Amino acid sequence: MSGSTIKPWVVGNWKMNPVQSNAQQLIEEFKQLLQQNPILEEQCQIGVAPISIALQHVQQQLADANRSILTVAQDLSRFAGTGAYTGEVSAELLKDSSIEYVLVGHSERREILGDTTEVLKAKVQNALNAGLTVIYCVGESLEQREAGQAEQVVLQQICDITAVVKADDWRNIVIAYEPIWAIGTGKTASPEDAQMMHAKIREGLSQITALGASIAILYGGSVKPENAADLANCPDINGALVGGASLNAESFYKIAEAFANTK
Ligand code: 13P
Repeated sequence: MSGSTIKPWVVGNWKMNPVQSNAQQLIEEFKQLLQQNPILEEQCQIGVAPISIALQHVQQQLADANRSILTVAQDLSRFAGTGAYTGEVSAELLKDSSIEYVLVGHSERREILGDTTEVLKAKVQNALNAGLTVIYCVGESLEQREAGQAEQVVLQQICDITAVVKADDWRNIVIAYEPIWAIGTGKTASPEDAQMMHAKIREGLSQITALGASIAILYGGSVKPENAADLANCPDINGALVGGASLNAESFYKIAEAFANTK
């Protein structure tokens, strides 16, 4: 046991995958695995983040699982409410579709899709104002790590949003630490390195909010069944944000199981 009292979260970020028929199969297989060997809700929060047009369908398909599985949006608009913003989906419209969770600040959105700090602040603020829970992603590049700047970069990314998170809203924040060099590369941060960063994040959060000790901090970056238990054993790693391995029902199940059994 890791000794942490925070309930772990295991969330599958499907990114721009898969085609509908494969998504349906993936969910059916995952539900069956849970049926055969239940993972109790008290042991682990489980969620999946499909592409936006599949959110409601996935949510419906998950509804008859033997436990709750959260449906998480991968992104939301920097604009709130409704209005003339072609292609956008606001926090309020997610909420209106019963989507209660959203990823913000994934490194692919920061690096490839142009989400600046200002944009991310607006997204976090809109999500919280609409009553959504935000999984806020942070992480350094390889260059930043090699230059000894990893901690500073990550803590700055957390500080970036503090102005838009009201005291009570920290209850609705989950942090995901995803070192960019570990995403989709098969290279995982060692449990020691990940734990060290998570402890720094925890320390930083505790300076910002009285709720710092209870915020879940997930690790992301090449999490797979083979490394999940070692990561789960670290006291400040409270779950995983899983990319590639979440597209396979058995792998995703085993990761959730590892966190449920270790925490
Ligand atoms: P991989 O698990 O494929 O490395 O992706 C991690 C990630 O980006 C999850 O958000």
